[in-house]
Amino acid sequence: MKKLIFATNNAHKLSEVQAVLGDAFTLVTLRECGITEDIPETADTLEGNALQKARYIYEKLGADCFADDTGLEVDALNGAPGVHSARYATDGHDFAANNCLLLKNLEGVENRTARFRTVIALILGGKEYLFEGRVEGTIATEEAGCEGFGYDPLFVPSGEIITFAQMSAEAKNAISHRGRAVAKLVKFLKDGKL
Ligand code: IMP
Repeated sequence: MKKLIFATNNAHKLSEVQAVLGDAFTLVTLRECGITEDIPETADTLEGNALQKARYIYEKLGADCFADDTGLEVDALNGAPGVHSARYATDGHDFAANNCLLLKNLEGVENRTARFRTVIALILGGKEYLFEGRVEGTIATEEAGCEGFGYDPLFVPSGEIITFAQMSAEAKNAISHRGRAVAKLVKFLKDGKL
């Protein structure tokens, strides 16, 4: 079975991708291949960050690998928090503070359209490939639901009346940015063509 490094230590993300991938590839985490340091993410786009992480691993280990980066883009905020989604309100991953700041910045704003976008950068046999998944939606005026993580309690996908945080993991994955990007990656890995 071929090995593929996934630039994550997030067990949830790993099992989600492995489930879609089946047994054609075995995914390996950063920890399992001895990378314990924080990989720099200093680019100003999702594409740049995903590539930066994948290239870091490839330069260090010379092995096939992929990395992802996700952001929430709010139209009325000119695409913010975007690439800064994790650290919108504070230096850490403080989801509650991020949601609070987002609601504050959208106070009285009528146009609440937004999208989640995930970019996956794959390096396979030394060649680079990018895969994008997105889901359009709107930002609610108050939080609802307790499933998921991050901005899920505020994000209502188009065509739905509930937030991502009110959906089961399966229902969210079927339409989510990450689910769609992963589906493209897996199709490419299985078919060998874009
Ligand atoms: P990452 O690139 O997957 O680490 O995502 C960066 C940040 O985007 C996270 O810290 C969350 O704040 C937000 N985010 C990413 N994916 C999701 C999601 O599926 N739901 C809600 N927020 C998300």
